[in-house]
Formats: sequence, C-alpha cells, structure tokens
Amino acid sequence: MDTKVDQPEEAFGIHSVVAAAYERYLANTDGALADYIPELAAVEPNQFGIAVASVNGELYAAGDVDRPFTIQSVSKAFVYCLALELIGRDATVARVGVEPSGDAFNAIVFDPQTNRPFNPMVNAGAITVAGIVRDVAGAGAFDLILDRLSAAAGRRLTMDEAVYRSESETGHRNRAIGHLLRNVGALDGSVDEVVDLYFRQCSILVTATDLARMGATLANIGENPVTKDQVFQLTAVRNTLAVMFTCGMYDFSGNWAYDVGVPAKSGVGGGILGVVNRQLGIGTFSPRLDAKGNSVRGVAAFRDIGDELGLHAFDCSNVGSTFMRSLIHEPR
Ligand code: DON
Repeated sequence: MDTKVDQPEEAFGIHSVVAAAYERYLANTDGALADYIPELAAVEPNQFGIAVASVNGELYAAGDVDRPFTIQSVSKAFVYCLALELIGRDATVARVGVEPSGDAFNAIVFDPQTNRPFNPMVNAGAITVAGIVRDVAGAGAFDLILDRLSAAAGRRLTMDEAVYRSESETGHRNRAIGHLLRNVGALDGSVDEVVDLYFRQCSILVTATDLARMGATLANIGENPVTKDQVFQLTAVRNTLAVMFTCGMYDFSGNWAYDVGVPAKSGVGGGILGVVNRQLGIGTFSPRLDAKGNSVRGVAAFRDIGDELGLHAFDCSNVGSTFMRSLIHEPR
C-alpha cells in the first residue's frame, strides 16, 4: 500500500469513509483484466487505490493511489472538453451527438437519423473527437492533449509507450470504426493519423490521485484547485459533465446515475473518475473489470462513498451535497 499522502485533519469523515471502502473491497477479486490490448493483461491485478480531492485542494486517499496506469477511456471526457473549446458547442454537436447509446463502448453503431456517433464517450464518438483536435492542431494535437490533461492533474503526465504500441498493433476494431466514420463524413483526412492520436491519448499514464485532481479541476468549473490554472472553459465543463452523467459508464450509465448519481468516466485500465459538481473529484484504480468494462472494486467503492457522503446529485439525506459543500468551504 503506498498511502504516503498527508491526510488532512479528519474534519468531515471523508477520510474514514474512503479508508473503510478501501478495506471493505480490498479482498474482492471479482472481474478480469482487460486482455484485448495484450499489454493490459500484464498489469498487476491486485492494485487498488481510492483518492478524493476537494475543490479547496485537499486530498483524502487510501491504498495504491500513486501507482501509474493508462487512462484509457477516461481521456475521452477531457479531450471532448478540449474539442468543445476548440470548435465550439454547435460544431462539435454537429459531428458527435449527446445521446446514450445503450451499447458497449466499442459498438459499431451510429445514430440512424444523423449518421453521427451517439456520444463522445463511446469509441466511435471519441475517435471523431480526436479527429476534431487533429483538424485544429495538426501534428501538435497529441502535445495539446497531453498539456491539457497535465494541467488538469497539476503535474506533467507521460505516455506508456508499451501500451500504446500494443494497442496500435492490435486495434483493428477501432481502425474499422475510423474508416466507417470517414465513410459517413464524420472524419476528414487520414484515418490512421486520427486513430493513432486516439491510441496515444488512451496510453497516457495517470494515478488515482491524478484522476481525483483532474476531477476536482472539472468540479471547480475548469480551474485546477491547487495550481489555480484555468484549464478548461466553463461552458465546455458543463457540457462535458452532462455527457459524463448520461453516457460515461457506457451501457451501465443508467444504473450508475440511479445508484451513484455523479458524472463519471471509466477506462479499461481500471480507472474511474467521478465529479461532484463544485465539490470533489474522485479517482479509483482497480484493474479487474466487469463485463461492461468498468472496474469492479471501483464501482463498489463509488457506490459506498457516494451513499455515505451523500454525493448523489439528487441526494435528500442530511449529509447531502449542499451540506457537504458548506462544510468544505467553512474555515476550520
Ligand atoms: O478503445 C479502446 O479500446 C481503449 N483504448 C479504450 C477503451 C476503454 O477504456 C473502454 N472503457 N471502459
């Protein structure tokens, strides 16, 4: 366990709730590593970490919160936020919809009315979004994405070359999606370049602490609470959180909204990022996944932490969101 974070004073019970969820699910070995990207099957499966970052810069953590893993689909939320800023809401929505697909993340399915990908959280939508960034930034697109994700985390992030190569060598389904997108006019130019950009963004290395800090940047309407850097535009953050809420957990999004009730995004690297608007970012890391590609222990921990801290968007308990917020902002 590498919990070397100085825990803030135990004022509101956040740390004890995080620590209890960690202990409760530590022995849970349900699920399986993603193996369709060969390099992901080589990850140490027992790693488990939970980090919660507040909009006033505090961090509550338990377990392996400093272990690097690839961000995978969690990147889709941030690259979407960037695309909204680069070409604006209307041009973005003209190319990628905002409806839940109800299908798996890698489904080869498009909105039958518009031919657009259903939303930017599934692969077809995310590859289109990568195409938007590629159209605007050309050869500098990956650096732009890496810079922006690093600013959200508050530290310089890097890419895992081995995972990138592994996905690049085996990602034929995503290449097929790219060619279908080119066929319906959702992508211009070189499909290979756009899919390569998508593989690179998925291979960025983060920790659970990074995910929590990145979530706190979104929760803090785009300003990194620690560095004070305004990383994302306000309206882009609002639109991104909305689509995370409805589509971020793929064909589990309805269950997630019902039970956990916070905008979130998962990745097959084992990360889940959640955002409690104006309050908290939450990052979990546990690489064993359920059948829908979501981290088993991550989902369980989010459920408990959400319930115990009253984080659900429609919470009506006396520990609800507004109450939490007033506590967080009160000087101690
Ligand atoms: O498109 C892929 O296959 C991956 N690079 C990312 C997929 C992913 O993380 C899906 N999430 N659960």
